[in-house]
Amino acid sequence: MNDSRILEISDLKTYYYTSRGIVRAVDGITLDLKKGESLAIVGESGSGKSTLAFSIMRLLPDNARIVDGSIWLYPEKIDLVRLSNDEMRKVRGRRIGMVFQDPMTFLNPVMKVGDQIAEAIMYHHGCTQKVARKRAVELLERLRIPDASNVALRYPHQLSGGMKQRVIIAIAISCNPEILIADEPTTALDVTVQAEVLELLRGFIHELGMSLILVTHDLGIVAEICDKVAIMYAGKIVEIAETYSLYKSPKHPYTIGLLKAVPTVHKSSSEVGGIKGNPPDLVNPPAGCRFNPRCPYVFEKCLGEEPPLIRVNNDRAVACWLMM
Ligand SMILES: Nc1ncnc2c1ncn2[C@@H]1O[C@H](COP(=O)(O)OP(=O)(O)OP(=O)(O)O)[C@@H](O)[C@H]1O
Ligand SMILES: [Mg+2]
Repeated sequence: MNDSRILEISDLKTYYYTSRGIVRAVDGITLDLKKGESLAIVGESGSGKSTLAFSIMRLLPDNARIVDGSIWLYPEKIDLVRLSNDEMRKVRGRRIGMVFQDPMTFLNPVMKVGDQIAEAIMYHHGCTQKVARKRAVELLERLRIPDASNVALRYPHQLSGGMKQRVIIAIAISCNPEILIADEPTTALDVTVQAEVLELLRGFIHELGMSLILVTHDLGIVAEICDKVAIMYAGKIVEIAETYSLYKSPKHPYTIGLLKAVPTVHKSSSEVGGIKGNPPDLVNPPAGCRFNPRCPYVFEKCLGEEPPLIRVNNDRAVACWLMM
């Protein structure tokens, strides 16, 4: 892994406009990603992980808006937030690929999976359908799908969850993107298949020198493949650190709670690692630190002032008044 930066997100804010009010789903996120690095974004359900991922891809629903901040793509340092839709289409897939949380919202149910991969290849490489179909089968083979040429002729509903997810990975990496964003790529799969798919992903990342942003609520799988972990809570990053040191000595009370709950952080749980309660409503989050209603160490300052994300040493930043 070298040290050059490939993506830099600066004070990003993405809000949803709803009848209930403004949902501050991503509310001032700053982070960077280096070439060949894999970064995990971890947090409970509703913390804004997918909103962050979709903001980078500029694939947000109509009621969402990026209201502030920048997403710089290097080496040119182009700001994806300000790119025209046409220019963004060229970045999507070609330079940044994405594996989605729910395979069926992404795959076309009435199109053979091989053709769906071939379509992506043709779109980006401008090759003939015949060449693209051949490459699609090769990709499926590389993803260790047995009898790949036959599988390519099947429709999504004829494939198992693990196979479908491999097809989606094939589409995402078909154009050899520099960055791959994987949003809960294995959540819908059973544990053994999860491990296989993650192993495949890890292999590809290394082989192709891709950078990875892995979105997950499961800290257990992160240790396997990521160099760095950003912990998200209620639209903000509360701690970011190199994976090993985060596991070894978590600093933020929320991170400590999450780690206690490994490996069984269930999305629907109202209690994470002994931390009672639920994440706040992002229409009307608590004043001060957003974690204060659940924090076992809360003190007066936490109620009134929001802690900034402060670098505490070379590889770690924490947003907690206890650290300052
Ligand atoms: N289309 C939408 N309209 C309004 N609010 C939304 C929309 N999509 C998401 N939200 C809200 O934005 C916040 C962040 O949601 P997001 O889906 O980014 O969380 P997440 O961390 O990906 O959760 P999960 O682990 O369940 O996938 C939540 O409060 C959610 O209810
Ligand atoms: Mg999500």
